Amino acid sequence: MKKNIAVLAGDGVGPEIINATLTVLHMIEKKFNHSFSYTTGLIGAIAIDLVGEPFPKETEELCLRSDAILFGAIGDPKYDNDPTLKVRPEQGLLKMRKTLGLFANIRPIQTFDALLHKSPLKEEWIKGTDFVVVRELIGGIYFGKRGREDKGRTAYDTLTYSVEEIQRVGKYAFEIAQKRRKKICHVDKANVLETSRLWRETIQELSKNYPDIIVDYMFVDNAAMQIIKNPRAFDVLLTENMFGDILSDEASVITGSIGMLPSVSIGEKTSVYEPIHGSYPKAAGNNTANPIGTILSAAMMLEYSFDLHKEATAVRDAVDEVLLKGLGTKDIVTAHPLSTSEMGEKIAENI
Ligand code: IPM
Ligand code: MG
Repeated sequence: MKKNIAVLAGDGVGPEIINATLTVLHMIEKKFNHSFSYTTGLIGAIAIDLVGEPFPKETEELCLRSDAILFGAIGDPKYDNDPTLKVRPEQGLLKMRKTLGLFANIRPIQTFDALLHKSPLKEEWIKGTDFVVVRELIGGIYFGKRGREDKGRTAYDTLTYSVEEIQRVGKYAFEIAQKRRKKICHVDKANVLETSRLWRETIQELSKNYPDIIVDYMFVDNAAMQIIKNPRAFDVLLTENMFGDILSDEASVITGSIGMLPSVSIGEKTSVYEPIHGSYPKAAGNNTANPIGTILSAAMMLEYSFDLHKEATAVRDAVDEVLLKGLGTKDIVTAHPLSTSEMGEKIAENI
């Protein structure tokens, strides 16, 4: 099979984790006789430094003509502490999401048996955790009207959702639930927010088309607690943009290292595959970051965008095998940790 992949490494450890992932993808091409072509594009702080904007037109066009997008990370501390800056790396990510219509962000949260001891939570409570966060990604407060009034002394961000936006991501969540344990937990703040009440109405209406799916509704503050107290109770957790941002970071703690977790943002045409962690600027250039989140994102790409299920399983099995051998980068292994690139090579060897 021939496919075109846009590779956007971005900032911080982005280039390292992407390189390790390409080692794995090259092995998949070789073993399963595929031919992927990779074209790199600029995004984030590096794009601002080189061409003055965080999501240049050239990158946008590259994304639109590719079959899938592999993404590293975005963000640089030199932009974080100055709230007056007009151009920021994160704008590149948000612009990419909006331009490509990436309406659903899927973050699977699964524990790895070899790493249960790394979690700050009790092993017996988390073993077997297996749920997915489905986060709406191009609506809500991230994209609402914002501004300043009162000579800059008052600021506002608005949270808006339409029925169509809720239905689009909602349908996707029901379809995922049908392939899983058939349970959706809808997370909102319907005791306070009007948008949450519209979400509930819309999801209740939609659920009539999916009689096989059990839907329950939970307030976000309670959900934050239940994710830690009883993570195995969740199957598909469906929520709006900002709640999903916060809850998916929280959920990542269960697994022991945020470096392990993949994600996909589903687009109208092209989807973006990226680890859920950020650019980890402190480790940039050290070849120490964990590439597994990105490698598992590539496995999701093989499965979701290319329908290559055997190949995706081969990547996941190779990751499990390497972990079972006690190998890992320094976030997961204390004695003799491997480097980012060695980890990529080990996983490739096990395919
Ligand atoms: C994420 C990140 C982004 C978000 C930031 C970098 C804008 O935290 O992908 O979860 O808030 O969506
Ligand atoms: Mg986030």
